[in-house]
Amino acid sequence: MLFSPGIIKNLKVKNRAFMSAASEHKADENGTVSREQIAFYEKFAAGGAGLIISIACNVHSTGKSGPRQASIESDENITGISKLAEALHRHECCAVIQFCHSGRWNARYQASVGRKAVAPSYIPDTSYDQSIMKIAAGPYREITGDEIRDLINHYADGAVRAKESGIDAVQIHAAHDSLLSQFLSPAVNHRTDEWGGTPENRMKLHKSIISAIREKLPDFPVFLKLGIQDGFEGGLTFEEGLEAAAALSRCGFDAIETSQGLSGNSFNDSSLKQGINNAEKEAYYRKFSSALKKVSGIPVILSGGIRSLTMSEDILQKEDADFVSFCRPWICESDFINKWQRGESEKSECTSCNQCVMRTARLGESLRCWLRDPEVGAMPMT
Ligand SMILES: Cc1cc2nc3c(=O)[nH]c(=O)nc-3n(C[C@H](O)[C@H](O)[C@H](O)COP(=O)(O)O)c2cc1C
Repeated sequence: MLFSPGIIKNLKVKNRAFMSAASEHKADENGTVSREQIAFYEKFAAGGAGLIISIACNVHSTGKSGPRQASIESDENITGISKLAEALHRHECCAVIQFCHSGRWNARYQASVGRKAVAPSYIPDTSYDQSIMKIAAGPYREITGDEIRDLINHYADGAVRAKESGIDAVQIHAAHDSLLSQFLSPAVNHRTDEWGGTPENRMKLHKSIISAIREKLPDFPVFLKLGIQDGFEGGLTFEEGLEAAAALSRCGFDAIETSQGLSGNSFNDSSLKQGINNAEKEAYYRKFSSALKKVSGIPVILSGGIRSLTMSEDILQKEDADFVSFCRPWICESDFINKWQRGESEKSECTSCNQCVMRTARLGESLRCWLRDPEVGAMPMT
């Protein structure tokens, strides 16, 4: 099934093996897509990916998390993104880009350019600061209602630019520690206005973004990556996250990629779990996608710890997801899907060591697999 074609809205994909977004810190300093970045993604397209969710780009300067994050905030960004789309299309791979805003977890970078990061609420209680995201911590403040409305327009303008660039679809990042996860989570959204309080209000930003895009682009495919459950007690629960996913699947999004919401204080309480060395540990959010498949009328993409052809086939055959997606396996081995298609069915060589994450998140280095670069010393994992 992995190598059978699929369809999402009006988009035809040649197979069901996708690449999930990775902040790769490879754009030029002004946010333009670089040649290094295009080459990085093109090798996965050549390696068999049916669809790549590339460049986790910012749509608004408050969403920028590093000097080498790509941007779609200006028309000047269109040329670089068009070249990326062309490169992926050369391999019959669908080109998707992710719109990413990390809210308070942009704080370290925002402080370096003299700004305070924005978040749904300012929370003086520091217990949440134990999250693995504390490496990106810094001063932040509550976003105002006017700023929220401005941000929504930036998402819509970004989608228009993506379409002009020849990109096939955009994905709105509302999983992990993103600003939209922060809005959905009762743990960190303490607002008392229309953007906080009830579950309906906490997902109003998600709904407003898709409505604003739909006004400008009625037919352009828009995916959502949604965190269904936070990685700590007191955060978004599975039941509440599933209800939000079901509601959001009915309001204009064309596909949902399931993942978790806010991170807890270790990698194993985050979307980047480690030690995926047997089948039981693989596909650690299968429960999310399989529950969503039963209540959602749109395609569901499952990511998180999928490492083998056997597991991919099992997920698709049991209809626990419509598509499977991988991130760290691609970073480790750019042609594992071609190998699987040729009948070489060994599981991915990725050891989920997360050195790739530590080096990019902590040092802002350009993304690479450190298993493949043994001369580079290992980073401490705290
Ligand atoms: C270095 C790195 C950067 C990532 N950046 C993003 C990102 O910007 N947006 C996002 O939605 N997920 C991001 N992820 C998470 C992946 O998309 C994926 O959800 C996660 O790695 C689990 O899948 P895997 O086990 O196949 O790696 C990142 C992962 C890695 C390893």
